[in-house]
Amino acid sequence: MEALSLLVGQAEQAFAAARTPAELEDAKARFLGKSGAVTMQLKQLATLVADEKKTRGAEINAAKQQVEFLLGQRRQALADAELAQQLRTESLDVSLPGRHRGTGGLHPITLAAQRIEAIFGSMGFDVADGPEIETDWYSFTALNNPENHPARSMQDTFYVDVNDGEGRPLNLRPHTSPMQIRYAQAHARKHAGADPMPEIRVIAPGRTYRVDSDATHSPMFHQVEGLWVGENISFKDLKAVYLRFIRTFFETDDLRIRFRPSYFPFTEPSAEIDMMFGSGPLQGRWLEVSGSGQVHPQVIRNMGLDAERCIGFAFGSGVDRLAMLRYGVSDLRLFFEGDLRFLTQFK
Ligand code: PHE
Repeated sequence: MEALSLLVGQAEQAFAAARTPAELEDAKARFLGKSGAVTMQLKQLATLVADEKKTRGAEINAAKQQVEFLLGQRRQALADAELAQQLRTESLDVSLPGRHRGTGGLHPITLAAQRIEAIFGSMGFDVADGPEIETDWYSFTALNNPENHPARSMQDTFYVDVNDGEGRPLNLRPHTSPMQIRYAQAHARKHAGADPMPEIRVIAPGRTYRVDSDATHSPMFHQVEGLWVGENISFKDLKAVYLRFIRTFFETDDLRIRFRPSYFPFTEPSAEIDMMFGSGPLQGRWLEVSGSGQVHPQVIRNMGLDAERCIGFAFGSGVDRLAMLRYGVSDLRLFFEGDLRFLTQFK
């Protein structure tokens, strides 16, 4: 009896000392194997008489069961430890940022331009595109600019060292207004002889250039030109269209616009369009967003249209300005510095 509980204690120690399943199998053999300590005890039963054999046999079997139980426990403990170790080394740290391909995104000015196109598109406006290097005629003369108008001067307009064929240098268009002429000319040619001629309804977004650079002016900037010409298009249409546009662009009806008398050679009368938010951080401040006016009859003629029948309005708005207001950007130059910390915020 004594010897048996000693044996069980030895087995327990031997199992505990086994660090791996293989070591545990060795230990098992020493107790339960063919010539293991427990097996030897059973073999010795043969030397006993029947009565003793019975009680001794029961004792040995109980000890054997205990040893098997201890073995099972240790096996399980080793398996648990192994699994825990495996989990530790193969675990997935879900808090690590994933490795992904940089997908890029659209530039905020592009986003603003797309928004403008979608809104005017919904009001039946075509979208047109044209050259950024212009002739003197399209940038100025066709737009009724007097010969001595300051816009023509070297201080405002970038000139290209290439002759336009009529003795004047080409320019980097200082506004998108040349597109009024280009689009209307093409329209007049396309619909020559049609009576009445279909209306012109177009916007022309794009890059423009002026000799100017500070927090709110960049030598390269963006405008969107608008033109609606028909037989009976008036200033009230301009007001309605522009109000609808600006309220949709900023997603609020809590926004007013005003038309402030101004001067442009190509419109008469002319007005600056100012807008004012009814709430938010810019609440109560008039912000200039566009030039506008009724297209001058001389410009209508330069388009190749009948100034007695055709009338309409035009506007030219600053896209960058609209984007700054929409996204709350205070320095225009941020748009053009290519700093990803700024740009990725618009993805
Ligand atoms: N072209 C003008 C500018 O750049 C804006 C404008 C466009 C004004 C159309 C009236 C009509 O300031």
